[in-house]
Amino acid sequence: MQKVLVYDFGSQYTQLIARRVRELSVYSEIVPPGFPAEEARGAIGIILSGGPHSVYQPSAPLPPKEIFGLGIPILGICYGLQAIAHLLGGKVIPAGEREYGQAELEVLADDPIFKGLARKMRVWMSHGDRVLELPSGFRPIARTENSPLAAISDPNKRIWGVQFHPEVRHTPFGSEIIRNFLYEIAKAKGDWSLEDFISSETERIRQTVGDQGVVLGLSGGVDSSVLAYLLERAIGTRFYPVFVDTGLLRAGEAERVQRIFGSWPNFKLVDASEIFLSRLKGVTDPEEKRRIIGQTFIEVFSDSVKGLPVGFLAQGTLYPDVIESRPVTGPSATIKSHHNVGGLPERLPFKLLEPFRFLFKDEVRKIGRIIGVPDEVITRHPFPGPGLAVRVIGEINPQNLDTLRKADLIVEEEIRAAGLYEELWQAFAVLLPVRSVGVMGDERTYEQVVAIRCVLSEDGMTADWARLPHDLLERVGTRIVNEVKGVNRVVYDITSKPPGTIEWE
Ligand code: XMP
Repeated sequence: MQKVLVYDFGSQYTQLIARRVRELSVYSEIVPPGFPAEEARGAIGIILSGGPHSVYQPSAPLPPKEIFGLGIPILGICYGLQAIAHLLGGKVIPAGEREYGQAELEVLADDPIFKGLARKMRVWMSHGDRVLELPSGFRPIARTENSPLAAISDPNKRIWGVQFHPEVRHTPFGSEIIRNFLYEIAKAKGDWSLEDFISSETERIRQTVGDQGVVLGLSGGVDSSVLAYLLERAIGTRFYPVFVDTGLLRAGEAERVQRIFGSWPNFKLVDASEIFLSRLKGVTDPEEKRRIIGQTFIEVFSDSVKGLPVGFLAQGTLYPDVIESRPVTGPSATIKSHHNVGGLPERLPFKLLEPFRFLFKDEVRKIGRIIGVPDEVITRHPFPGPGLAVRVIGEINPQNLDTLRKADLIVEEEIRAAGLYEELWQAFAVLLPVRSVGVMGDERTYEQVVAIRCVLSEDGMTADWARLPHDLLERVGTRIVNEVKGVNRVVYDITSKPPGTIEWE
């Protein structure tokens, strides 16, 4: 299978670049900034991502210069373009003023990267530095009002660079530009397909596990559910799905999982809510909550699989989890500890099986559709491993959880009734440890606040708050205050990511 490598210099959009490439039927992998040129040799193309640094600073991450001598087509995006200019003898300087937002690009030359596109198009800019002098051999192929070198190329060396971001939707023809790089320049065959992945992965799972059993911790979410269907297909009765009720689930979640998987031969539901809640008593620090939940999960899960004839533990780990958790990735910092990847495996006497570790979430959803996973599972919004514990801000107790569940259910019901559920990445309620004064009838009230969080996102890495219709927000607010005891105020979260994260903790 042909492969494109994406060198990660820490841009929020790095994963988006890799996804766009895969959407165009070419397999892509993200590699750290210093990934050796020797190991890049088999790739059909290299893309250098954007990033928050300045190439002229001594600590700036740069790719090994040898990649330019491999003869593999290279596309630099934003910082990637500046890295090319800097390493090959050009000059990069601070732009004076940061250029951010939409700009009109004017194509100046017949270049394969713009094949089939109009001479003028809108593009998305976000940069603080700019290229002042090109390295020898390069020519400008497009400009904008503020960036005379908005796109450059040296077709002889097979190197291209764009100052704008073709990977984001705000660049309407961005995918066409990436397509041109892949198919016109790197001569891709387009041999990445999820159907092929399913058959080869099914075969690989059978080969790997032999006659042993595989256990999987179901969460009710998309990744573990799709993986359950894949494992069921691959190894049938040697597959053991276990669902741990942590007491931190949304309303009706345990029943829903039971309804979908309850009839599978080895399905097991473990109610561990008491132990989770007793350990979380009095804990308010978000990272401490996550640590306790991760640790307790390991213990409960280990106990629940004791005596089962299994040699493997399957996990629905996705590529973003792998990238975020590996020690030497791009300069992107660990923002929250996600326990999906860490912790669990080393402590269990199983070998690890992670069939989705190179896949993005939308690819897992597509696989689910292909192998017949029910729609209600596939379209389900992501739900964090630590569950409602990170949505009850401050101390967790059964009463707070109950209040949040009721408010959360109203959010989901109303969003679904408005036909917006599938358009949103997530929509949920958060219970705040704040009380405010209100008036109900003629009575003064002094009760809790619920925040509503609804976001649009492509992969959870960046997100925009959803501009929901006011009448929908009004219905949600009115219903929560009327129907949820203990809540007298509802607020709407208008923070995007960055600078906020999607979850509050
Ligand atoms: P944040 O809050 O970091 O979340 O913007 C990004 C996406 O990840 C989900 N999330 C988690 N998923 N375990 C998970 O499996 C976790 O600990 C966890 N924390 C956040 C979050 O819901 C969002 O979709």
